[in-house]
Amino acid sequence: MKFLVFLGSVRESTPPRPARLGARVSLACESLLKKVYPEHEVEIIDPLDLNLGDIFKPEFAYSRKQVPADLKQLADKIAEADGYVMVSPEYNHSMSPALAHLLNHFGSSLFSYKPSVIVTYSAGQWGGARAAVSMRTFLSELGCLPVSAMIHVPNAATVFNEEGRTNSKEAQDEWDSYMNRTMAQLVWWAEGAKQQRESLDPNSLIQTFQRDPSQRNAPK
Ligand SMILES: Cc1cc2nc3c(=O)[nH]c(=O)nc-3n(C[C@H](O)[C@H](O)[C@H](O)COP(=O)(O)O)c2cc1C
Repeated sequence: MKFLVFLGSVRESTPPRPARLGARVSLACESLLKKVYPEHEVEIIDPLDLNLGDIFKPEFAYSRKQVPADLKQLADKIAEADGYVMVSPEYNHSMSPALAHLLNHFGSSLFSYKPSVIVTYSAGQWGGARAAVSMRTFLSELGCLPVSAMIHVPNAATVFNEEGRTNSKEAQDEWDSYMNRTMAQLVWWAEGAKQQRESLDPNSLIQTFQRDPSQRNAPK
């Protein structure tokens, strides 16, 4: 299976220091998945590597022949993936605007019927728990339902170094065990969803709207 880790920060400036703690947390997620599930593929999606354009225009708003290369490539990766790890800092008690902006570029049909994991972090003691709550709603609407367990990383700058590792084997084992409680749920649900997608195409049962979302409204 394939898993994408979305790095939810584009903040290269300081203060607060250090910048892009999200890079460390994303690396920690990637290494845990590669270590425990070497049979699966994992890729970090870094918004700083993408040209999203200056003015917001989602992938689905372009005529099919004119989708910009970066959007097309990521849309294909999202469609091919079996599950998603959404890594977000907490900004003003909310999920990362950079992550929401990135995800808003893609239609829910690309994410649907696959699981996701919520990973939040902060420089302080709450680990982004308040941001995580609203991420459930966001990701459910995208169709990649988040598994029940979540990963929260308080004091992320002291937990993970720039390589996404802890400073001792004991701490690494503890973090691996904590994080794998959530990742195991992701892999389990991803396997089940993949099998079910292959045996029964959900789109054959649940019609997607053809014209606009009001076609999903309750009858008058
Ligand atoms: C605009 C902004 C708002 C923030 N709001 C919160 C907050 O609500 N709760 C919190 O714990 N930390 C907050 N922080 C501190 C972040 O946890 C810290 O800066 C972290 O490094 C952000 O992740 P990043 O470096 O990957 O962008 C905020 C930081 C910024 C820049």
